[in-house]
Amino acid sequence: MSRTPPEASNKPSAPDVLVVGGGIIGLVTAWRAAQRGLSVTVVDPEPGGGAAQVAAGMLAAVTELHYGEQTLLGLNVASAARYPAFAAELSEVTGQDLGYRACGTLAVALDADDRAHLRELHALQRKSGLDSEWLSGRDCRRLEPMLAPGVRGGLRVDGDHQIDPRRLASALLTACERSGVVLRRAWADRLRVVRDRACGVTLTDGTELDAGQVVLAGGSRSGQLAGVPDEVLPPVRPVKGQVLRLTVPRRYAPFLSRTVRAVVRGSHVYLVPRVNGELVVGATTEELGWDTTVTAGGVYELLRDAHELVPGITELPLTETRAGLRPGSPDNAPLLGPTALPGLHLATGHHRNGVLLTPVTGDALAHALVTGELPEEASPFTPRRFSAATLEQPA
Ligand code: GLY
Repeated sequence: MSRTPPEASNKPSAPDVLVVGGGIIGLVTAWRAAQRGLSVTVVDPEPGGGAAQVAAGMLAAVTELHYGEQTLLGLNVASAARYPAFAAELSEVTGQDLGYRACGTLAVALDADDRAHLRELHALQRKSGLDSEWLSGRDCRRLEPMLAPGVRGGLRVDGDHQIDPRRLASALLTACERSGVVLRRAWADRLRVVRDRACGVTLTDGTELDAGQVVLAGGSRSGQLAGVPDEVLPPVRPVKGQVLRLTVPRRYAPFLSRTVRAVVRGSHVYLVPRVNGELVVGATTEELGWDTTVTAGGVYELLRDAHELVPGITELPLTETRAGLRPGSPDNAPLLGPTALPGLHLATGHHRNGVLLTPVTGDALAHALVTGELPEEASPFTPRRFSAATLEQPA
């Protein structure tokens, strides 16, 4: 009679997929992969944490349109369209309210420069086939009476909504647990590569975890995992954002009925009102490496700009100040799917759009893990666009 060697019988079987990083991108990948029948482990010391704990949760495909980002726009719009069904499914599975609010957005101008900027954005939106409506200052104030009298005009975008990213993270964690995803609360230290194939990770305590495939979804830290060969190391960097949270007392409600935003002296400011009375004000954009200090200057600038838009904001209790790190990429777009190293996938580099791109990222990564290929809508976001061979100039 043959006997199984004792060390083999004690070793847990390797999951099909090991996800490094338990922020919303790692969790949605794990959840969707588990729904496709794959066994999944997520490695993260604090799953459900990460940039989603700071993010405002705007789903702003139309108002955050930028020149040169037409390809990203396609993915953003696809993900925004998926949000109602995604949020309903996640709520249904978990019994949790995600704070998804189809409230729309109003982008306003405070001076002639802002107005010119918004007019340009409006033209670009129309050229891109997106819905937005130009409003006079008076019409903006009719929609949002708390706006400053000096508002010169604005763009009404009824399709840009919001979700509460903290609730989203918590629900994804529950969904993962309910679909059998194993949460390993630890730090991944090093990618393990055997015979030119990613085959798992080593944790900081030395434990070796095997897996059929590895997904690197570590947000701004994704480029830091040891053992990842240079050719496939994701070119992501931390981009700091400081964000404030205020509370609207019941007697002031409704303070704002939709997201209000503007570019004030070149800086973006947005105010995102939640149903529960929270008002999120964001965000700075700072290239300061790993620094997550909340600074007096950052808080001052956000409050100053928000106050120019909505003067009554100074009456509200300031309940939280926080800084987070966006995972920036060279072209501001995510890196999704298989890399040139067999067995290694990326789901990172979502920069300003992590919350918005959560549904489409989960679907794309699950598809890639099952079939080995990205679905067509996600194919422009292959990490291979940054590989050395692609960047080489023709002779
Ligand atoms: N998408 C908003 C931000 O990154 O600040």
